[in-house]
Amino acid sequence: MNDMRAFSLTEKTAIVTGALGLIGRNHCAALAEAGATVVIADVEGSPVQEFADELQAEHGMQALGVNLDVTNPDSLQAAKEQILSRFGTIDILVNNAAVNDMVENRSGGAEETSFENYPLDLWRRVMDVNVTGVFLCSQVFGAEMARQGGGSIINIASTYGIVAPDQSLYVRPDGSRLMYKSPVYPASKGAVIAFTRFLAAYWGVSGVRVNTLSPGGVENSQEAWFVENYARRTPLGRMAEPSDYKGALVFLASDASRYMTGANLVVDGGFTAW
Ligand SMILES: NC(=O)c1ccc[n+]([C@@H]2O[C@H](COP(=O)([O-])OP(=O)(O)OC[C@H]3O[C@@H](n4cnc5c(N)ncnc54)[C@H](O)[C@@H]3O)[C@@H](O)[C@H]2O)c1
Repeated sequence: MNDMRAFSLTEKTAIVTGALGLIGRNHCAALAEAGATVVIADVEGSPVQEFADELQAEHGMQALGVNLDVTNPDSLQAAKEQILSRFGTIDILVNNAAVNDMVENRSGGAEETSFENYPLDLWRRVMDVNVTGVFLCSQVFGAEMARQGGGSIINIASTYGIVAPDQSLYVRPDGSRLMYKSPVYPASKGAVIAFTRFLAAYWGVSGVRVNTLSPGGVENSQEAWFVENYARRTPLGRMAEPSDYKGALVFLASDASRYMTGANLVVDGGFTAW
């Protein structure tokens, strides 16, 4: 038996939340390249079916676009029924949807983004998507896996769920500060890592494996000084490309990781090594 066949995802159905995002599209492509049927799940009104059609045309597998809100149990139930009536099974769930205060979308300087001024409503909104969303999707889709007797859940966390944000990364060469990284993003990602361990222990007996994938920062049209700060802070000397996580994702999704649950696979160019 060729053990590398364990990486194949043919005859498996995978759901990716936040599928239209920067890394989400690459998660979907990775699953498609490994042969999975892929459900492209993202917020109401987003062009999910368009991307599903693109993937299907490129890789020849089946794909379905589904609009849902990870914080809304009714929309998740409706999605589950739609997926089961179309494909009959749910084998892989990638809890990828999240709200992140990314450098490229933030400004405001030291004062506005400081911990002391961080707004409660934003804290609650980020916790709702990043933590409650992972809980709800696992409850709705994962319960189906437990009923079927197996599956793989991959919760996407971050290096900032493991180590504190390095606030010096957000300082320009002239000494002015673009922003502080928020308190809620690391808190939410730390919660995802802890929740992964809870669920792995809970569903081990049901054959549902639950692991975390913790990516490092992806280069995405940030200003050059930020990319340089980040690269200098990273042993491999660069920010990630969005495709750097494809191998790790397929590994966790497939039988290649069949004896692995409750783990946190860190793919960060060594960022958390020092
Ligand atoms: N980009 C990075 O540098 C980086 C680094 C480490 C970890 N991560 C993590 O990787 C994952 C993907 O990051 P990304 O950079 O691709 O993010 P992104 O912002 O590009 O995409 C996030 C996607 O989630 C969707 N989404 C948001 N709220 C939702 C909701 N309520 N219901 C359904 N979908 C919702 C958005 O529409 C969007 O398509 C996230 O969990 C993020 O925290 C990203």
